Amino acid sequence: MSRLFPFLGTSRPVDVVFVGFGHMGKYGYKALQALTEKFRKKQRPLHLAGVIEADRNVIASITTSLDVGKTVLIDPENPEQSSVHSIIKHHIKPRSENFLVYDASPTHLHYQNLIAVTTQLPSAVYLGEKPAVSDRHELDSIQQLDGRIYCDFIETENPVTLTLRNLIKTGFLEVQRMTFWRLNSIGLTKFFNADTRKGVTGGALLDKCSHDVAVTVALLLSRPSCKSLSCSVEAASPHVLMPYSRLPEHEHCFATASNDPSNRVVWGQDKKGKNSWIADGAGSARTRWSGSNGVLVDYHFGWFGVNHFDQFRFFDRSSSVRHQLGDLGLDEPSWLAKHSERTGVMHAYQFQDARILVIEGTLQKRRVKLVANFLTRPGISPFIYNATDTQFLELTNVDYADNPLARVFSLAIEGLLAGRTTSNNFLHQEISLTVHDVLFKIRHQ
Ligand SMILES: NC(=O)c1ccc[n+]([C@@H]2O[C@H](COP(=O)([O-])OP(=O)(O)OC[C@H]3O[C@@H](n4cnc5c(N)ncnc54)[C@H](O)[C@@H]3O)[C@@H](O)[C@H]2O)c1
Repeated sequence: MSRLFPFLGTSRPVDVVFVGFGHMGKYGYKALQALTEKFRKKQRPLHLAGVIEADRNVIASITTSLDVGKTVLIDPENPEQSSVHSIIKHHIKPRSENFLVYDASPTHLHYQNLIAVTTQLPSAVYLGEKPAVSDRHELDSIQQLDGRIYCDFIETENPVTLTLRNLIKTGFLEVQRMTFWRLNSIGLTKFFNADTRKGVTGGALLDKCSHDVAVTVALLLSRPSCKSLSCSVEAASPHVLMPYSRLPEHEHCFATASNDPSNRVVWGQDKKGKNSWIADGAGSARTRWSGSNGVLVDYHFGWFGVNHFDQFRFFDRSSSVRHQLGDLGLDEPSWLAKHSERTGVMHAYQFQDARILVIEGTLQKRRVKLVANFLTRPGISPFIYNATDTQFLELTNVDYADNPLARVFSLAIEGLLAGRTTSNNFLHQEISLTVHDVLFKIRHQ
């Protein structure tokens, strides 16, 4: 088998360890492949030193088809054997002086992995999938860690975000108000087919809205005059409906839809002994960002698609993405992905996905409304539409055009090579923690 991450005579490899090799882990592997040539030229060839996985079948598929130093099957039931730092130290044994740990395991494991890596492996940098933490107390306890934490908010590397950042940085675009919608149907998928995408937990707020809060921070911090940001939550209505798995498998399940902070679907241990799970099905939040002339930002996030979201009408008619984009003349097929899902004989539903931002502000001193679409699917490409002039803006050219995760890995590896605290990119600990802080403010509003 040819080496995907070859070493050269005088070069010093950079080791990478993956924790979890599901949907995102495989995507991460492609990202590393895309970066092979870039880092080989810098005499720092990338080497996937190890993969830690809990699924025997996934391990088998890695062993037979991919170029990986070591694969380790973890036993999640046995805490002695499942500490990531000791597996890395004793089994994977990275050879490079500094190395990257990419955590694409299920969300509820990120905090323990992050603590294990940053406290037990002094030469490692942790790149975790979002969200890095699931609860306020976890966030508080990582504030003091030493800066070796990156979190993948991949949408900050979307060509749409990069283009908007350039327009803002150069003073062409002044943002006054933003409205985000990130609505897909993964909650329905989980409901009807509990074994799919087990890694995504935590509900629509942490899973979906996290991207849009990260994009907000990336955009507002691009203003030359903006040195720091703070956010207050003016209103939030998390509506909750989403069981994690099929109802009959659970002993307890109840749904609420009030404005109470405990407004979540909560259910107890199921027959397989899984822990309790919490999931927001959908919600909206209105925030004001100071340090940036008090920009008002609304978020709409959901786990059961556009149709169902519209039935809730969290704020008013303006919270419907269909109504807003319809009024601006954008055809639905250009931004809303749909396909039919059938799980067994009984269940069929339409899977929907939409990732939209509407910006009100000025472009070269003229008032404008811009519509940005982040989604890439067959027939749908990222765009920025100037609805005032009915024109599409040209997007910035980016490296690894179809693989934003490659740009994320590139930033993380550059940060690793440059030293721990020198990175000023949007994966970095301080910015990641700000994003999580806003999410928990929304949750506890
Ligand atoms: N950045 C993004 O756009 C994006 C998109 C999707 C998912 N995610 C995040 O990525 C993470 C993983 O999601 P996914 O969609 O890849 O899920 P997935 O279910 O496809 O993959 C998770 C993998 O982790 C493995 N695993 C389970 N327990 C483990 C353990 N103790 N140690 C190591 N591996 C373990 C599972 O066997 C599975 O292969 C989630 O946190 C999710 O929120 C991010």
